[in-house]
Amino acid sequence: MTTTEAGSPTAAGSGSAATDKFKNERVTSDTSPERLAAIAKDALGALHKVILDHGVTYPEYRVFKQWLIDVGEGGEWPLFLDVFIEHAVEAVLAQSRQGTKGSIEGPYYIADAPTLSAECELPMRDEDRRTTPLIFSGQVSDLAGNGLGGAIVELWHADDDGYYSQFAPHLPEWNLRGKIVTDRDGRYSIKTIQPAPYQIPTDGPTGAFIEAQNGHPWRPAHLHVIVSYPDKRSVTTQLYFRGGEWIESDVAMATKPELILDPVTGDDGINRVSYDFALDPV
Ligand code: BEZ
Ligand code: FE
Repeated sequence: MTTTEAGSPTAAGSGSAATDKFKNERVTSDTSPERLAAIAKDALGALHKVILDHGVTYPEYRVFKQWLIDVGEGGEWPLFLDVFIEHAVEAVLAQSRQGTKGSIEGPYYIADAPTLSAECELPMRDEDRRTTPLIFSGQVSDLAGNGLGGAIVELWHADDDGYYSQFAPHLPEWNLRGKIVTDRDGRYSIKTIQPAPYQIPTDGPTGAFIEAQNGHPWRPAHLHVIVSYPDKRSVTTQLYFRGGEWIESDVAMATKPELILDPVTGDDGINRVSYDFALDPV
């Protein structure tokens, strides 16, 4: 996120950082012309039906056109799409999985975080240490329950103020990000902090879209994880916290009952929770 004079990161900054990151990936897909034509026909048909059903007017059409331009110029397409569309694409992928449930990746994943051993602490600042500590542990296994030693658990999450490193310039590059290698039994134990609910940046066109319909911009507190192992399907998911605010009304519609953690607070003030991942075969 770009920082204003008051010091708070802005949507324009986080949106364009997410766009720059995505553009560098230069993605491709082997979609055939026939499949593309069928999807395009149904997508446009669905939009035409909405226009007819709601009697959309010319002023509304022109405002829509202007807003589309604003989203592009503000670099907010990755943000907007990951909030409002990605969960449906993930639901398609989920149909072919038996192992751990997936969830959306969102725009703030960065590859190549520092590699950490199975028992580790995520990189964090002194300020982060003053918030609630969380020890997140568990095991990565195959569908038969065999532990997968050397599996990779990529973990990233927002800090107590809801900011992600590399999308908020006041944070160190790899703050609260790590690539953890499981031990020989597939186990890991990671010390981090309890993330806070995250607010979709409200000062750009995505925020304007939400505000114009009296919506709210909140996602519940969550951990992002990608778990991978050679010859297994990797899983991209998110873990939430029972009783957390916005779980029932996540703006990105990305929560699932199977992905809710129940941390226990110890006498030492540390929250501890265990979660096991099961990877599908390729
Ligand atoms: C996320 O951090 O999980 C997220 C942020 C923006 C859009 C979608 C997801
Ligand atoms: Fe997130």
